[in-house]
Amino acid sequence: MAETILEVRNLHKSFGGVQAIRDLSFSVSAGEVMGLIGPNGSGKSTTVNSLAGLFSATSGQIVLGGEEIQHLPEYPRVAKGLTRTFQTASVFPEFTVREQVRLGSNTTLKSNPLASVFRLGGSSDEEKRVEARIEDILHLTDLHRIADKKVSTISSGEQRFLMIATALAADPKLILLDEPAAGLISHERKTLSELIKLIRSRGIAVLVIEHHMALIMEVCDRIVVLNFGSKIAEGTPTEIRSNKAVIDAYLGEAA
Ligand SMILES: Nc1ncnc2c1ncn2[C@@H]1O[C@H](COP(=O)(O)OP(=O)(O)OP(=O)(O)O)[C@@H](O)[C@H]1O
Ligand SMILES: [Mg+2]
Repeated sequence: MAETILEVRNLHKSFGGVQAIRDLSFSVSAGEVMGLIGPNGSGKSTTVNSLAGLFSATSGQIVLGGEEIQHLPEYPRVAKGLTRTFQTASVFPEFTVREQVRLGSNTTLKSNPLASVFRLGGSSDEEKRVEARIEDILHLTDLHRIADKKVSTISSGEQRFLMIATALAADPKLILLDEPAAGLISHERKTLSELIKLIRSRGIAVLVIEHHMALIMEVCDRIVVLNFGSKIAEGTPTEIRSNKAVIDAYLGEAA
């Protein structure tokens, strides 16, 4: 059996009077793609934000690779192998695509992260390894063709792939993708499906939120369904598609 990468135990998150997540538990294994679906406002982004450490959960445990991380801020969670896509692309529009991806690798560098972005100083063995990994990620995400272009000049679809590449550069055990297909056109969605499968084939666990059901059903090994912050179902795409509670709460409207 594959190693458990993430275990979420009895997670709760309230915003004032709003209970955005109620008693949520699930786990994700190495090389598994887990989908997180549900109606608008059902708590999907709150789940991802709690896992990533953007804010702290009200109660419950988040266990990454056997270690409780719910008390940690965002950055140390990234260093421990939990990373998400965020819109860093717009932060440094003057960076090239390659520089932006290199920025994502900072958490893996022991020495002088900023120097690594601009490739200052000598190239240690460590830096050479990081450079090789960046080239690998640029190929994996098909961004190598535009690696020297400025981030401000690439299309919005390419920026979405750049976010994933930047997250991959942190060398994650688990990557969280919140609506990665939003704004993508049909052939880009297909490329995204292929990329998620490639990420899985490298043994990285993926948690993906999406409203595009065709994509979810194609790439996910299992799916957790939320409604009003509670888990109402968990299973394979085939099981979820025919689950009455899921059809009533969500799929009926999405289909
Ligand atoms: N920072 C916040 N402060 C207050 N309430 C919040 C905050 N973030 C989310 N909520 C509330 O928590 C609930 C869950 O929201 P969340 O964004 O997690 O839903 P979602 O499933 O991601 O929805 P969508 O499909 O629209 O992205 C909603 O009622 C929302 O209004
Ligand atoms: Mg959301």
